[in-house]
Amino acid sequence: MTSTRKSIHGQWSSRLVFILAATGSAVGLGNIWKFPYIAGENGGGTFVLVYLLCIALIGIPIMMAETMIGRRGRQSPINTMDALSKEEGRSHGWVMLGWMGVVAGFLILSYYSVIAGWALSYIFRTASGAFIGVTTDGVNHIFSELVTDPERLLAWHTIFMVMTMIVVARGVKHGLEKAVRFLMPTLLALLLMTVAYSMTTGHFMEGVRFLFTPGKISGQGVLIAMGHAFFTLSLGMGAIMVYGSYLPRHTSITQASVIIAIADTGVALLAGLAIFPIVFANGLEPGAGPGLIFKTLPIAFGHMEAGTMIGTAFFILLVFAAWTSAISLIEPAVAWLVENQGMNRIYAAVWIGIFTWFLGIGSVLSFNIWSEYTWSVPFLFENKNFFDTLDFVTANLMLPLGGLFIAIFAAWVMHENSTRDELDTYNIIYRIWHFLVKYITPIAVIIVFLNVIGVISL
Ligand code: PHE
Repeated sequence: MTSTRKSIHGQWSSRLVFILAATGSAVGLGNIWKFPYIAGENGGGTFVLVYLLCIALIGIPIMMAETMIGRRGRQSPINTMDALSKEEGRSHGWVMLGWMGVVAGFLILSYYSVIAGWALSYIFRTASGAFIGVTTDGVNHIFSELVTDPERLLAWHTIFMVMTMIVVARGVKHGLEKAVRFLMPTLLALLLMTVAYSMTTGHFMEGVRFLFTPGKISGQGVLIAMGHAFFTLSLGMGAIMVYGSYLPRHTSITQASVIIAIADTGVALLAGLAIFPIVFANGLEPGAGPGLIFKTLPIAFGHMEAGTMIGTAFFILLVFAAWTSAISLIEPAVAWLVENQGMNRIYAAVWIGIFTWFLGIGSVLSFNIWSEYTWSVPFLFENKNFFDTLDFVTANLMLPLGGLFIAIFAAWVMHENSTRDELDTYNIIYRIWHFLVKYITPIAVIIVFLNVIGVISL
């Protein structure tokens, strides 16, 4: 049976636009801010390897599954799960998957916006010339001055949330296409310039070795690498599903997913190559935590030819990359409010924005007044503050869990003729995809979970 539903929110004008929008969602702070610092904290090499394996074996198949489910349901993830579970004659309980995604989106955006605020503030810092000739101590000082000031953090967080609300209120499609078409290639060019600088530090190979030579990794490290594969590709919470619901029929989901995953991974690896040589050349700590890029990149910009201009442009683009991700984080919730509550997009975006902004205050305070308030959950984590906990619970638990259920839904709940019809691809590709989502993804996610709580040991 062919699905004939139409989305009330409209459609992308072509596959290219979908690829651009989904890449805009995928490429963000996850690639440039988060990947280097968690790779640094978890010892590099093996972490990167596990992450790459997860992208290939779990990420791409789940991206195909999410897009496929979205396009078939043509509604917000909550209503899509409702419609498809009915259509397949299955339990209504699957709507919970949509709800979990909406909650994960809120939680992620609340801290994402705070970090995007750091990037916003760095635009002006860099432009003012504050980093020219800067020393390691100098960058550390500038960074800690920023994060220990709750008022400044709150102001930047507020500005970023307002920016996000404006785009979401206008409808995700307006402007996004043009923005991403121009921004992504420019971001790539600036990243390449930073990598070129790193090559001149005399420590480039040390950085390469750190990123690609296998070493030790903990069970936690494996969980974080897998969680990051979901986070960086925007999977497991409905963002890609809702973008899939705007995708015209008869466009290849397989090709689009592979292109998006390659672009996303490429940006992350380039960011790593740009940052680690600077870390080693300046005696910094690879495990310096969330501040890593804010303590390393300014050194590059402070010492390269035309660094003030390049650096300013870099942080502007980083903010854009974060922006195009942020809007996808609340789009599932906004689409649902519009569909079910008959709310107009503007109200929906404003309400959700205010709610998320409020929650973000917890993350603002995590870097200063509340930084010492930490807690531990046996087996899962130790001494995490509010921000660390949100990040851990969303990226490492909620997204993989969402992904696990998406895999189960696509391969065990939906009938083969529905998924075959919707994916509309070569038999061999379909068979490989089906095998991966039916067995490999669920087993891998479950094994990593069991390993972390100590039931099994890898
Ligand atoms: N993929 C985005 C990034 O790497 C974050 C994100 C996660 C966006 C989940 C949407 C959904 O920055």
